[in-house]
Amino acid sequence: MRRLFPSPFPAARPADQRLHDGGGADGGGGADDAGGGWSLDALADAYAYPAAPRRWLRANMVGSLDGAAHHGGRSKPLSSAADMRVFGVLRALADVVVVGAGTVRHEGYRPARSRPAFAARRAAAGQGPAPAIAVVSGSLRLDFGRPLFTEPAVPTLVLTGAAAPADRVAAARAAGVEVLVAGEGEDVDPARVVGVLAERGLTRQLTEGGPRLLGQFAAAGVLDELCLAVSPRVALGGAPRVMEGPEVAVPAEYVLESVLEEEGFLFTRYLWAGPEGGRGTPEGPGPGTTSAPESAE
Ligand SMILES: NC(=O)c1ccc[n+]([C@@H]2O[C@H](COP(=O)([O-])OP(=O)(O)OC[C@H]3O[C@@H](n4cnc5c(N)ncnc54)[C@H](OP(=O)(O)O)[C@@H]3O)[C@@H](O)[C@H]2O)c1
Repeated sequence: MRRLFPSPFPAARPADQRLHDGGGADGGGGADDAGGGWSLDALADAYAYPAAPRRWLRANMVGSLDGAAHHGGRSKPLSSAADMRVFGVLRALADVVVVGAGTVRHEGYRPARSRPAFAARRAAAGQGPAPAIAVVSGSLRLDFGRPLFTEPAVPTLVLTGAAAPADRVAAARAAGVEVLVAGEGEDVDPARVVGVLAERGLTRQLTEGGPRLLGQFAAAGVLDELCLAVSPRVALGGAPRVMEGPEVAVPAEYVLESVLEEEGFLFTRYLWAGPEGGRGTPEGPGPGTTSAPESAE
């Protein structure tokens, strides 16, 4: 893996060499070793959350060259070993992974693992052994007998609306799942999700989509960072883009933070420019996060 931006090369170097240089001490960027492989530690440093934010919501998604967010209902055909490495590192840095119920159902989500490679880093950051998974669902049409709910290293949470079906809420609780309310109707208010989780001390937030949930976070102005992997594949078909939702009045602006590359995959990192053209929300909650969090407990 090598860094393309910010450029690891002297400014005088021709642009066409930047993408094709073979890596190594001179050509591959600071953390690159001679083979172009970054250690997990180097990747974790590169993707570190901003220091002491009130809360920070980062998304990690992969999209094909033609914009598809899945192929045959799964993201794996668009992914690669490097993509999975970044995926694992982003999880290892997070307090909580927020994911829509559609993705849980399609991808057969399992609990996040506690990984020895990150144990010391997590302990030093005051984090438990693995991030909690927080599933967003209005219907609670989830199989609470699955390992995601029965075998997590850290209890899995469910975020839903106050008017969620009572029998499904009861089923979740009977299975020992904690149900958090973050919306007045059946649906969750995406802007409240970040506050509800931050109130529990889960401030380093990662969402893995899917497209419908991520579109709502972006539209609500609470998405601080997008880690978008551009997969060098063409999927065609009717798959959604990495974000779905109604067109916004004015396209939101994001600022490029970094680009890594491995085997044709671009690992981009964009920060939301914010309503005033500022840089995300490192010091405080973003717009829409002021409502008091509630718990159904
Ligand atoms: N390329 C990638 O990186 C990537 C990442 C993730 C997923 N995917 C793909 O995306 C596909 C799934 O897409 P999707 O858009 O359907 O996924 P999604 O956003 O994960 O799931 C949508 C579901 O989440 C729940 N939900 C979302 N917003 C809600 C809200 N405000 N309030 C209450 N519930 C809410 C609803 O569940 P209920 O129906 O239970 O109410 C809704 O049906 C899969 O094929 C997956 O492979 C790709």
